Amino acid sequence: MHLTSPLTATAKVWLLLIALLPTLFSGCATLPPKETPEAARGYTSEKAMVVSAHPDASRIGMEILRKGGNAYDAAIATQFALAVAFPVAGNIGGGGFMVARSASGDIVTLDFRETAPGAATERMYQDSIGKVVDGLSTDGHLAVGVPGAVDGMVKIHQKLGSLPWADLVQPSVDLARNGVVLTQKEAQGLNNSKQSFINNNKHLPYLVQEQEWQAGDTLRHSDLARTLERIRDKGREGFYAGETADLFVKEMQRGNGIISHEDLANYTSVWREPVTGSYKDYKVISMGPPSSGGIALLQLLKMVEPYNLRKYGWQSTETIQLMTEAERRVYADRATYLGDPDFVDVPVNELLDEEYLKARMGTMSLAQATPSSAVKAGELPVYETEQTTHFSIVDPAGNAVSITTTLNGGYGSKVVVKGAGFVLNNEMDDFSAKPGVPNMFGLVGGKANAIQPNKRMLSSMTPTILEKDGKLFMVVGTPGGSTIMTSVFQTILNVVEHNMGMQQAVAAPRFHHQWLPDEIQHTADAIPAAVRAELVSKGYILKQRGQFGRVDAILVLPNGKLEGGADPRGDDAAAGF
Ligand code: DON
Repeated sequence: MHLTSPLTATAKVWLLLIALLPTLFSGCATLPPKETPEAARGYTSEKAMVVSAHPDASRIGMEILRKGGNAYDAAIATQFALAVAFPVAGNIGGGGFMVARSASGDIVTLDFRETAPGAATERMYQDSIGKVVDGLSTDGHLAVGVPGAVDGMVKIHQKLGSLPWADLVQPSVDLARNGVVLTQKEAQGLNNSKQSFINNNKHLPYLVQEQEWQAGDTLRHSDLARTLERIRDKGREGFYAGETADLFVKEMQRGNGIISHEDLANYTSVWREPVTGSYKDYKVISMGPPSSGGIALLQLLKMVEPYNLRKYGWQSTETIQLMTEAERRVYADRATYLGDPDFVDVPVNELLDEEYLKARMGTMSLAQATPSSAVKAGELPVYETEQTTHFSIVDPAGNAVSITTTLNGGYGSKVVVKGAGFVLNNEMDDFSAKPGVPNMFGLVGGKANAIQPNKRMLSSMTPTILEKDGKLFMVVGTPGGSTIMTSVFQTILNVVEHNMGMQQAVAAPRFHHQWLPDEIQHTADAIPAAVRAELVSKGYILKQRGQFGRVDAILVLPNGKLEGGADPRGDDAAAGF
């Protein structure tokens, strides 16, 4: 077994920065190296790997693989472990999506996204004059969607699991009871949210203590351990019925929540059609609606495919322009056309039509930025009417699982179910509270993503798997709200066009455009100064921001070994054998 330490990961970022120095300071396009130097590779393993946001979760997933469990078993164990070890995003009170590819190439995708409660209404976050009330869809009990995570894990187990259910939940019961040693980042995250926890709970949640949390403190989750035991023993009923459901509904009543016993009993995750497409020699398999992620990723890749990004070079002016112009057009489409396919007709084929995408890019010019005000959603031929977490797993047989799961914001709604010890999501903010009014990620939407009872809110999550020549090539995904699709897009291009290894590609600095606001958001180190100047001269608005995305990915190397990419922006870790 091996766990990459955060220190190793940091060292790798330095390695990468050193490798990229010529680009960063010359401002000129560079040709990619012919192959990734071995020294720059991330952790590699012979046949199996788990990469997740927390070393304990990666270890627990990997131990399941060692015991002979398959990738689906490991995914279930990892999901529950993240609910304990990484409560800022890992969850049983949230939801997510799985994209999986079996060793023989069969693909399944599972939607365990939250739903709006039965009593939800289109204008529930607006006041009497139609103004969206600040904080109502993001903080507290009314922000919570009906969680899908537990039902999702049960469905995965029924269809694809091989070890007994209890064996997959037990490690997280133990972890919750024994406690998790906090890292610096986690201690700080809890301290930063202290006031919000106090404001949004009638009781004092166990995630709050009088003095500040410190790195090295052990956080024990006793109530959560008991909830996990009920899930271990009763499966779905351990969460959506009985004591857990009673505690859940009582918690709703303590605030202004509207989730009922009936909502919990009715929740079901859904096996969906995957969205698939190609980029050059690669087959791209991703999540369809109610996530916008897969469609957006496939649109982005198709839109830049005709251009020689490799020749233009990584972070050259032209490469950034082409990616930005594709991104602005894709996000305009997202705002108009995407929503829950059980409620609205999503024109998937039309949005992915090659001629349509070519025409969309036909309106761009390398001479000058297209202002977002000049970009609307495309005319389709036929159209009728930050915290999340990602993990990637490959097992010794070659089955691959890509799961992104979320509470939406860090610690979701900040509501902790009294007596049950789990954090509730604030996923309702992913709906469009009012047409054109941006949500917490600045995303706008309209009718297609309006609130309706039992509807799923639109997501950006993009768990993805790539094949090359019919074989598994990459498992990838990330958190980051609206930046998810663009981070996955960049990570794939970093490997496929710019010859980076998995760790390099994950660690590389990022930029992002989402149509509105009309700006290229970038981290301090993402774009060379000379390129920034050139972009500004062409009419682009640049905005520096903090780090975003925590991509956790696995690359199958030509010799069959696996290379992990564990994002050094977090405490993420790869484990394997
Ligand atoms: O489903 C979505 O698109 C959002 N709820 C994801 C939120 C997220 O990634 C926040 N993480 N940084």
